[in-house]
Amino acid sequence: MTRYEFLKSAGFSGAALMALLTSCVREDDKYVNALTVAPYGSTTGTKTSGITTGTTTGTNNGTTTATSNVSGIITTEELNKITSTKLKIDLTSKTYANLQIAGGYMIISNIVIALSKTNTYIAATVTCSHEPKKQMIYYNNEWYCTAHGARFSLTGAGLNSNGRAGLSVYKVATDGKTLVVY
Ligand code: FES
Repeated sequence: MTRYEFLKSAGFSGAALMALLTSCVREDDKYVNALTVAPYGSTTGTKTSGITTGTTTGTNNGTTTATSNVSGIITTEELNKITSTKLKIDLTSKTYANLQIAGGYMIISNIVIALSKTNTYIAATVTCSHEPKKQMIYYNNEWYCTAHGARFSLTGAGLNSNGRAGLSVYKVATDGKTLVVY
């Protein structure tokens, strides 16, 4: 039985489970299996044509209309004024349906894009600052590296020793239909 399984069987869950897992990790045992195995209670995601889809507890019904309760929506005219774009995606496409679910994320062109649990679009590099592994995900309203457990705030501040170098985050804008990372 792994430490994760033991703690789960002992009744720990959520933040308490995370705190216990991270507090008792040895230097030679930095992998936090709970997160690499089951963020949101499922597998880490599948990779198709360069797009990794984050798993969420939400229901993805493949809707083709962009979510309407997203905060910070700007006009299409304002969106079109942004010139230094790193990425532009059509949120109405089924391809990006996970970005219409609060808590969902996708990895596109080495950028992790998420719709936070508070319905704000956020983006960060997929490459960790601890070692250059491309294993960043959105988890528990933080950026989290599944390689060795580095944690970062949504603004890129390091939250533990492996995350102390911080993380590059990007600006995101949307008119509700098109999303731009810049
Ligand atoms: S590469 Fe080590 S925590 Fe990300």
